Amino acid sequence: MTNNASNEALTIQGGTPLSGEVTVKRAKNSALYLILASLLTTEPIRLQDVPRLSDVDVILDILRHVGVDVRWHGRDLFLQAKHIHTCSAPYSLVSKMRASFVIMGALLARCGESRVSMPGGCAFGPRPIDRHIRAFKSLGVTISEEGGDFYARRDDLLSGRVVFEAPTVGGTQNVILACAASSREVIIENAALEPEVGDLCTMLSEMGAEITGAGTSVITIRGVEGLKGVTYRPISDRIEAGTFMMATAATRGVVTLRDVDAGIFGQVIDKLRESGVRIEVEEANSLLVDARGELRPIDVEATEYPGFPTDLQAPFSSYLATIPGRSTVRDRVYPDRFTHVAELQRAGVDLKLNDRTLEIFGGDLSPARLHAADIRAGGALVIAALAAPGRSVVTGVKYLDRGYEALGERLRGLGANVHRFGIPRDLATGTYG
Ligand code: EPU
Repeated sequence: MTNNASNEALTIQGGTPLSGEVTVKRAKNSALYLILASLLTTEPIRLQDVPRLSDVDVILDILRHVGVDVRWHGRDLFLQAKHIHTCSAPYSLVSKMRASFVIMGALLARCGESRVSMPGGCAFGPRPIDRHIRAFKSLGVTISEEGGDFYARRDDLLSGRVVFEAPTVGGTQNVILACAASSREVIIENAALEPEVGDLCTMLSEMGAEITGAGTSVITIRGVEGLKGVTYRPISDRIEAGTFMMATAATRGVVTLRDVDAGIFGQVIDKLRESGVRIEVEEANSLLVDARGELRPIDVEATEYPGFPTDLQAPFSSYLATIPGRSTVRDRVYPDRFTHVAELQRAGVDLKLNDRTLEIFGGDLSPARLHAADIRAGGALVIAALAAPGRSVVTGVKYLDRGYEALGERLRGLGANVHRFGIPRDLATGTYG
C-alpha cells in the first residue's frame, strides 16, 4: 500500500480472460470491529492475518490516539489497551471513515463515556447514524450533541432491549461492543445477520463474553466484567472474493479462489450460476469459477444478508454489462449507490437508471478513463477495464486501497495486464479524463 494513492492510477490492458489461483484475504469489515474489541480488555489481543488496507490504518490511528499500543508483526496485529488516555475520537480521524463511529460503543464500555464526532457523508448518499443513537438511548445511555460531536454517558451497566426498526450492521456492532463487558442483560431485536457481526460475537465469546443468538435476528448479551485477551483470525472477505469472481466472469476466465468460506456468500453464488457461470466448491475453502460457458442476462436485487450484498452490486453491474441482453440491478440497502453508472457509460455501456433500478443493456465494452468514487465502485471499474479490450485508466486508486489489498498485483498473478503509475496532481481528481 502507498501513502500517495490519491496521485496514482491503474492502467489496465483489458480483454484477457483471468486464469489461475488467488488467495482471498481476511474480511476488512470484520477486522475493523475486531480491532475495536481490543478496547474491552487490558490484556493483549493478537489478530492474525489482518488485511493491509488504508481503512485498517485509519482505525489503528484512532486506537493509537486513545492510547492503545498497536504493533504489527508481519500480517499479525498485536493490540493492548492497558491504559486509555482519552475517551474521545476527534473529527480529523472519524471523518476519514464512517465505520470509526462504532468506537462509541467500545469507549462507552471502557470509560463509561465517549465523545465521537459525527461521521461525514459519503460518495453514495447519506448514511445516517440515527439507529445507533436511538439504540443507545433505549439502553439508558444519555446522549447529547455539541458542535458536531456526540457525547455519550452511562451511569450504570446497560440493560434493556434494542429494537432496530431495520437492521444495521454498524449499529448492531456498536451495541454489542458497548454491552459485552458492561451490561446486565441486553436483547437486540432485528439485529443484522451479516457474518461479520457473527465474527465479532465469536471473538468476544472467546474473550469470555456471554453472547447468544449471533447470526439470528435476536442477540442476547449478558455483560461479563474482565474480558480476557485472545488470538483470533478474522473470517474470509466475502466481498473481495465476490469481486474476484465477477472479474473472472466478466473476462470469461477460470479462477480458483483459495481460503474462502463458501457458506457465507448469500446469494452471490446462486446469482452467478443463474447467469451461466459454473461454480464448484472444490475442497474445503476453495471455489472454482469457470465463465467459459454461455452467459445470460439476469435481474438482481441487493438486500441485507443473506441476500445479495450491496457491496457487490456495482461489481456485478460491470459483469452484467458484458452479457448481451437486458439485465436489471436494484439496491434496497443503499438506493443511491450508483456512482459507477456514469463511468460505465464512458466505457460504452448502455445503462438507464430509472426509479432506482439500473437497466443494463450489455454488450462489448470499450476502453476508457474511469474514476472510482468509492471502494466498490472502484472494484466495478477495474472489472469493466479488465473486460474492455484495449488500454483503460482507472483513477481514484485511494478508494481501492481502502478495501482491496494489492489488487493490481494480485490481478497480475491471474494474467491481467495491470500497472500502477503516478499521475500529475492536477489530473488526480474526478475530472481526470
Ligand atoms: N442506516 C440508517 N441509520 C443508521 C444506520 C444505518 O438509516 O443509523 C441505513 C443506511 O443508510 C443504509 C442501511 O441502513 O441504508 C444499512 O446500513 P448499515 O448500518 O448496515 O451499514 P454500515 O454498518 O454503515 C456496513 C459496511 C458497508 C456495507 C453495509 C451494508 C462496514 C465497515 N461497512 O456499513 O461496507 O455496505 O454494512 O452491508 O462494515 C464497504 O465495505 O465498501 C462498505 C461500504
